[in-house]
Amino acid sequence: MNMRLPILLILLCLAGCRAAATTDLAFAREVTDAFAAELQQALAGAMAQGGPVAAVSVCRDQAPEIASSVSARYGVSVGRVSDRLRNPANAATAWQAEGLALFAAEDAGAPRLEYLTQADDERRYMRAIRIAPLCTTCHGDTIPEAVAAALAVDYPHDAARGYRQGDLRGALYVSWSAL
Ligand code: HEC
Repeated sequence: MNMRLPILLILLCLAGCRAAATTDLAFAREVTDAFAAELQQALAGAMAQGGPVAAVSVCRDQAPEIASSVSARYGVSVGRVSDRLRNPANAATAWQAEGLALFAAEDAGAPRLEYLTQADDERRYMRAIRIAPLCTTCHGDTIPEAVAAALAVDYPHDAARGYRQGDLRGALYVSWSAL
């Protein structure tokens, strides 16, 4: 039997698998960039226009809307998760909790920025979110009183406070069916 054929097949598979993985990663990054940019634009716009108190309700209403519209546009599921939640609707699923745990475990040394994995027919990607100066107005340890009052109305069980600049806040995720 010709031994070259199996070797060729293995090489083809390796090349093919690598190409698929690169494509998955590039796609996941593109979707995440779009999602992050739209979130940031909505937040910065709301802060500039109405200040942080008004921006609380913009975050509440627009964050889920932006997630739905980006999901529909790309045919994926996108969202934000954290292990310290403001909105319980953003709770992590099992695979997302694994990603969050990885980010947290590697936070001290060389922090991990992204995570791509797959399960049978689903591709799964996460990108770590860190606290920037802007975020501490609503997630820091000295939240202005009026902002705290607005948050208390919508989020009585808010655990997403007390963060400092650079802290790991959670992650953006993208998942999609690879079938
Ligand atoms: C004006 C106040 C405000 C600012 C500023 C703000 N957030 Fe939030 N954040 C919120 C509100 C309100 C929610 C809940 C949104 C919802 O109901 O889905 C939220 C939710 C989140 C979530 C989803 C997880 C959860 O706890 O529900 C993440 C992640 C997050 N914020 C990160 C950030 C980051 C990073 C920044 C800075 C770039 C930031 N936020 C700035 C008000 C704010």
